[in-house]
Amino acid sequence: MLALGLNGSPRKGGNTEYLLSAFLNEIEKHKIATKTIRVSKKTISPCTECGYCEENDGCIIKDDMSAQIYPLLKEADIIVAAAPIFFYGFPAQFKALIDRSQALWAKKYFLGIEDPKKKSKKGFLLSLGATKGKNLFNGVKLTAKYFFDAISAKPAGDLCYFKVEKPGEITKIKGLEQDIKKAVYSLLTPLKTRKKIFFICSENACRSQIAAAYAQYFAGDKIEALSAGSAPAEKIDDITIQAMAEEKIDISDRKPKSIKKILLNTTPDIIVSMGCKDKCPYVSGADTIEWNLPDPAGKSIEFVKKIREDIKNKILDFINNI
Ligand SMILES: Cc1cc2nc3c(=O)[nH]c(=O)nc-3n(C[C@H](O)[C@H](O)[C@H](O)COP(=O)(O)O)c2cc1C
Repeated sequence: MLALGLNGSPRKGGNTEYLLSAFLNEIEKHKIATKTIRVSKKTISPCTECGYCEENDGCIIKDDMSAQIYPLLKEADIIVAAAPIFFYGFPAQFKALIDRSQALWAKKYFLGIEDPKKKSKKGFLLSLGATKGKNLFNGVKLTAKYFFDAISAKPAGDLCYFKVEKPGEITKIKGLEQDIKKAVYSLLTPLKTRKKIFFICSENACRSQIAAAYAQYFAGDKIEALSAGSAPAEKIDDITIQAMAEEKIDISDRKPKSIKKILLNTTPDIIVSMGCKDKCPYVSGADTIEWNLPDPAGKSIEFVKKIREDIKNKILDFINNI
């Protein structure tokens, strides 16, 4: 699992930076990987409302948003949006990132292609401001709610603090550590209590990617589906991406992973092998299921679609029986 922290404050060593890093440190205590993006240091042009994303996959503007942030927003299981209040809203750099998430909104609502993690992805808001007006956080809460919807994350709570102005003032908030502990615990509990199912094949470019995406799509709230290969390919098979897009499931930004690397940080409950035979790992305590599906690499779209249907049926059956 990955928790992505978006630091929306341009001030280095400021209150948002402290709050976000304390929140992510608490997440790491639960053995979940984290990554922080300092939004103000990224090149993110504002949305030009060109309409490209309403007819095509992605955004026509090529900058850090397309190169780095869209893929991370898709990969992450938890997105923590952290920002100080600037004029009752998000700082401009963060607002540009939010506006550019329109490309993901359009992918979902115009093109009908969904994020397979939509059932489990969570969004959490951290914010703070100098004053104590009762409406201080209304703007960011509403914007965050719709940002999380665009990136297919369910809003899972917020921590917002009044009267925090000079750098370091956040550390004086009474009960901050307890607030964070409690919030992280309730954020992670539904994710950590899912059964871990590890789908494996040789290259992690076709079959195991399809299986993991379907498992997430149909039962991501009950299953943590991972996938990897014994000899991971450089990239996912293009025909597989196309076959899944026909199913309205987006796996375009996924990357093949190594079985060994996944097993360093994860102990699966069940391993489902697509047919990598003797190269499949033995993991003590995990049940192993063998599906023995033919390798669709380099085959026609019809062949891949047939395998896709086989995998879909097996996944639906598997979910019913788990
Ligand atoms: C451009 C700008 C606009 C701000 N607007 C507000 C505001 O509308 N309401 C408020 O309470 N604080 C406002 N503040 C204060 C910041 O929210 C506050 O100093 C915060 O602690 C900064 O967090 P940081 O250290 O993470 O950057 C503003 C600060 C700046 C620089």
